[in-house]
Amino acid sequence: MIEKNDLMEKIISLCKRRGFVYPASDIYGGFANAYEYGPLGVQVKKNISDFWWKRFVTERDDIVGMDSSIIENPKVWQASGHLNSFSDPLVECKKCHKRFREDHVAEAENRKQQSENSLTGEQKAMIKCEKGGEHEFADAKDFNLMFKTFVGVTEDSVDTAYMRPETAQGMFINFKNVTQSTRVKIPFGIAQVGKAFRNEITPGNFIFRTREFEQMEIEYFIKDDIEQSAKWFEYWLIEWKNFFLDLGVKEENLTIRAHDKDELSHYSAGTSDIEYRFPFGVSELAGVAQRTNFDLTEHAKLSGQDLQYIDEINNEKFIPYVVEPTMGLNRAMLALLCDAYDESDGSDGRGAGEVTMRFDPKIAPVKVAVFPLVKKENLPEMAGEIVKKMKKAGISAFYDESGSVGRRYRRQDEIGTPWCVTVDFDSLTDKMVTLRDRDSMKQERVSTDDIVGLIQSKLI
Ligand code: GAP
Repeated sequence: MIEKNDLMEKIISLCKRRGFVYPASDIYGGFANAYEYGPLGVQVKKNISDFWWKRFVTERDDIVGMDSSIIENPKVWQASGHLNSFSDPLVECKKCHKRFREDHVAEAENRKQQSENSLTGEQKAMIKCEKGGEHEFADAKDFNLMFKTFVGVTEDSVDTAYMRPETAQGMFINFKNVTQSTRVKIPFGIAQVGKAFRNEITPGNFIFRTREFEQMEIEYFIKDDIEQSAKWFEYWLIEWKNFFLDLGVKEENLTIRAHDKDELSHYSAGTSDIEYRFPFGVSELAGVAQRTNFDLTEHAKLSGQDLQYIDEINNEKFIPYVVEPTMGLNRAMLALLCDAYDESDGSDGRGAGEVTMRFDPKIAPVKVAVFPLVKKENLPEMAGEIVKKMKKAGISAFYDESGSVGRRYRRQDEIGTPWCVTVDFDSLTDKMVTLRDRDSMKQERVSTDDIVGLIQSKLI
């Protein structure tokens, strides 16, 4: 049984070693709480967002996609309330001048009461002052989380702009464009995947809370009616949870938690989080909020534009209510990394300590690895041909000829490759290869004519 804090350390180390996630600006000694996604990590992230897009945009008739700007007119953030209200309570220690989020300090203290050993490194720093003893915090101040930047060639307040802290507003401010340029009819949604930026006071826990991250959000526009809002809210909670289950997240690690009134965002009439049992504690993975007509009403007021929806059938005009399902792409990836990590105790035919990443095949960055048994005769050429055929069929395949086949299997298990294909001397004459399954470790002989189709059928 791996200790929970050890599990995070092991995942972080595997991510760097195998090219999933690197610390940012590594050659310059790093840049705190920022990360870069390596060749395997970017593929996992893309597999998640492609699955999301296919499910919520391509396969549905009621949702259209868009891609809005990261830097918008600053009035967007004035109308949305982010300029005034998008802040967290910040406390600063009078001795060491370290700054933390007040609610995160409270959470760490709570956890300490239960078990000091379960504190993460970040939580320990929130409790113990490096100048000795406990921190001496001054009263909390509101700290706005939006990153400021300057647009144009001067750096003064006239040119101040903000990096979007959520993708949502890009969809609200394009409501009129979308309704006028498409034939969408209520109820309908606009979906977007993209970067968001928040100057988090206490980022941490690897890719869980960073200052730059990606969101996958839908703004679902409905009739201006609180009962409709409650109905669609329930609908989206189920859809959202099912998405994670189909992605391969274990059900026992997911819970739904309704927000108390005092934690609701400034725009929300009701929010529930989908939480995941991360090794550092149960925390938010995704959420569904009832945003009512708050955002469209405020944008209509400040822009002076009519943002009503025209219902031609019932001959009425109204500002729609909105239900917003949202999730963090990086957090979804972290949940998958945690669920997939499986270290053998040596009783399952693998060596003790060997790691298998049990990704669902649709998430695995490499689907098939192809090996020639040895680097002789025509085995490398035949294996190379299979790789070519796989790639042509859109299957991510990897050729490996170095080391024993056992070692090659282990290298692929560690990155979660679901299938390995070995070409041996018999293959040259009988045109059959050995297909090995990552999870069952079973091996079967398959004709080279069928191998691509077989993998394709397993990936559906
Ligand atoms: N538009 C609504 C909205 O932005 P949110 O709960 O603040 O709601 C949505 O953010 C999702 O974005 C969260 O559920 C989480 O998965 C992700 N997220 C938020 N802040 C994050 C951060 N600093 N780092 C990584 N992911 C974050």
